[in-house]
Amino acid sequence: MKLGVIGYGNLGKALVRGLVDGGISQETIIVNAKSERTRSAVKEAFGQINVTESKNELVEKSDAIFLVVEPKNAPEVLAEIGGYNLSEKVLVSFMAGITLQEIKEMLRDASECDIIRVMPNIAIATGTGILGITHDGTDHETVKEVLQILKRLGYAPEMSEAQLDSITVTAASGLAFAASLLDAYQKAGAGLLANEEQSREITLRVFENVIDLARKENCSFEEIVARITTKGGTTEAGLKSLNQEIITDTLTECMQKSYEKCRRIQE
Ligand SMILES: NC(=O)c1ccc[n+]([C@@H]2O[C@H](COP(=O)([O-])OP(=O)(O)OC[C@H]3O[C@@H](n4cnc5c(N)ncnc54)[C@H](OP(=O)(O)O)[C@@H]3O)[C@@H](O)[C@H]2O)c1
Repeated sequence: MKLGVIGYGNLGKALVRGLVDGGISQETIIVNAKSERTRSAVKEAFGQINVTESKNELVEKSDAIFLVVEPKNAPEVLAEIGGYNLSEKVLVSFMAGITLQEIKEMLRDASECDIIRVMPNIAIATGTGILGITHDGTDHETVKEVLQILKRLGYAPEMSEAQLDSITVTAASGLAFAASLLDAYQKAGAGLLANEEQSREITLRVFENVIDLARKENCSFEEIVARITTKGGTTEAGLKSLNQEIITDTLTECMQKSYEKCRRIQE
């Protein structure tokens, strides 16, 4: 199967890296980006990948077209590719907040192609990402093949379109929220440890330790807290100052704001 990728920014790069490292041959990928600078960067990173400034060429040479541009560029890009022959092609949109219906409206003749919407996070670069997937239910072979390729990029549950916005917030933007929490932990730890570098290493290991314990022993985060906390001990002394309600409220507000923004993109 030939794959076309339109857009090679933060997510486009992660996608191409994940595809290539996941075993997709470079020769079967063709990339289009707006600027010559970005197209040269593709060539530098992946010598065998085809690069084009023509969307018509990309459409002609691809069975599946991955759309990885910003939502504000969607009307222009979709209007252009909608003018080419999309018969028997699959369009795979990675754009946050643009619905299947809106994509169909922006294309000139939606009946010609199948459309899949994917909401990933950038960890797809390492094949360990999270990808919410929704599509209009057709069982064409090309759609099935694309779904198989997407599953190589990480945990890829299929879901209703309405649920996709929740994945945008908790998994895509969620990587930034989680990184901010780790950053705070690192900064707080640096006050006690030898230096920032040591604090970074300990932060990474502490969070890895919690995840390993939760997965391997299939226990809740609350159980882990209970296991470590002895009455009158050091953990309990620290936890008394760690207001979990404030952290939960802050995160709830953060996710709510992010969700509202995601909904507004659709208005
Ligand atoms: N970043 C994430 O973590 C993430 C997660 C989930 C979903 N998404 C979605 O992924 C999409 C891309 O996000 P991003 O963070 O990768 O954005 P980005 O870093 O700004 O990259 C956008 C890319 O689109 C290209 N582009 C813009 N207009 C174009 C056009 N007319 N024709 C061809 N290429 C064009 C740009 O090309 P030039 O480089 O040449 O300007 C650039 O490579 C967005 O819709 C976003 O909602 C992103």
